[in-house]
Amino acid sequence: MIAKYFSYFLPINVIKRKSTISDSLEVTWNNGELVLDSKNTNYSYGSLQRILKKGLKYIGYERIRNYENVLVLGVAGGSVIKTLVGDIKFKGKITGVEIDPEIVEIATTYFKLNEIDNLELVVEDAFEFVLKTKTHYDLIIIDIFQDIIMPNFLFEDYFIQRINFLLNVNGFILFNTMVINEQNRVRNIDYKKKFGGDYSLRMYPKVEVHNELFTIKKLS
Ligand SMILES: C[S@@+](CC[C@H](N)C(=O)[O-])C[C@H]1O[C@@H](n2cnc3c(N)ncnc32)[C@H](O)[C@@H]1O
Repeated sequence: MIAKYFSYFLPINVIKRKSTISDSLEVTWNNGELVLDSKNTNYSYGSLQRILKKGLKYIGYERIRNYENVLVLGVAGGSVIKTLVGDIKFKGKITGVEIDPEIVEIATTYFKLNEIDNLELVVEDAFEFVLKTKTHYDLIIIDIFQDIIMPNFLFEDYFIQRINFLLNVNGFILFNTMVINEQNRVRNIDYKKKFGGDYSLRMYPKVEVHNELFTIKKLS
């Protein structure tokens, strides 16, 4: 625990390992907080948690409390799940999908996601999961990165249409993206164009230096 207090002066690394999927995974005490980082970016807690919290605030904590089913694609250390359970007091069912089993192990050991009763963790590629699931969701949080890379499937029609189908009317998609070059900027502009009049899309630029956040509401 003393590491927590020292970390206000200097980050203190707890573990560093490679997994079959991630080049580097690090758990570190930073400013009194335990965070999970990949090689080039923060995966959980720290700035990532702040970004998604902003998105959830835009959607509205009260509205989310009344939802029944939330899907989180990309779990890592589970900071958005902690926000849902701790800050929002969401009591419905949360399904978290994470591709990397070693990240799930870290989430259990260091971030105690196994102690959250209303969470079901699925170790699977989010794309596969979304194709197979028969459940419909009120809130779908898409937060999928391999280090700083966002897989292409996230921006492809097939995945977008499947997510839209799984979303209940009056439900929201919260999509976290990273914009680090012109190509990413254009990609996001094209993404916006894929939602017609049945959806209300808002984009929040520069939530943190490189992040653009989308909230998309299904109107009918
Ligand atoms: C930024 S982290 C997620 C942070 C998390 N939402 C939170 O609130 O702490 C991105 C995660 O996406 C996972 N990921 C990458 N590709 C994936 C895929 N195809 N399916 C599921 N998870 C994936 C990574 O392993 C990583 O854990």
